[in-house]
Amino acid sequence: RTQTVFAKGDPLSTLCFVGEAPGEEEDAQGLPFVGDSGRFLDRQIAAMREYAARIGVEFPASPYVCNVLKCRPPGNKLLKDGSDIAACSPHLWAQLRSLPNLRVIVAVGRVAAQTLLSSEETISKLRGSISPIAVGQLAVLCVPVYHPAYLLRRRNDKALHAEAWADLKRAVEGLR
Ligand code: URA
Repeated sequence: RTQTVFAKGDPLSTLCFVGEAPGEEEDAQGLPFVGDSGRFLDRQIAAMREYAARIGVEFPASPYVCNVLKCRPPGNKLLKDGSDIAACSPHLWAQLRSLPNLRVIVAVGRVAAQTLLSSEETISKLRGSISPIAVGQLAVLCVPVYHPAYLLRRRNDKALHAEAWADLKRAVEGLR
């Protein structure tokens, strides 16, 4: 990796997105979610902001965004034995504990969802519900969602995209 990729957005935000790992563009810029997935995530966040306004929920100006892994894995491939996740996740938990106003974490994709929920289930099993998790002294809602890269690979799957939007709406409602 060229540099570590820690976070972007406001640490005082009530809402945090946790992805998997920096990719090539993230590694080059030192910021999470700035490539294709990031542009898609930005559109999802814009839609969430509109939905929040419609239902009268306060939505943060700049949600906090980070990843489970802080460094781009070689060839963007995570290790089969999970030792990279094991090595990085204490940093993720410390990072999340440093967010004083955190209320909702959107777990973006399988790796984030499994890490945050201490689960080995697939993302299609984990998504569709909200789970309270402890982040230090805070009780926070964790909302697992499909990864943008997966949604981009299945652009024409209307049912999948409908599920994805239902999950994001659930995350907004969690901020109520
Ligand atoms: N970019 C990130 O920062 N994280 C992902 O999970 C995917 C792309």
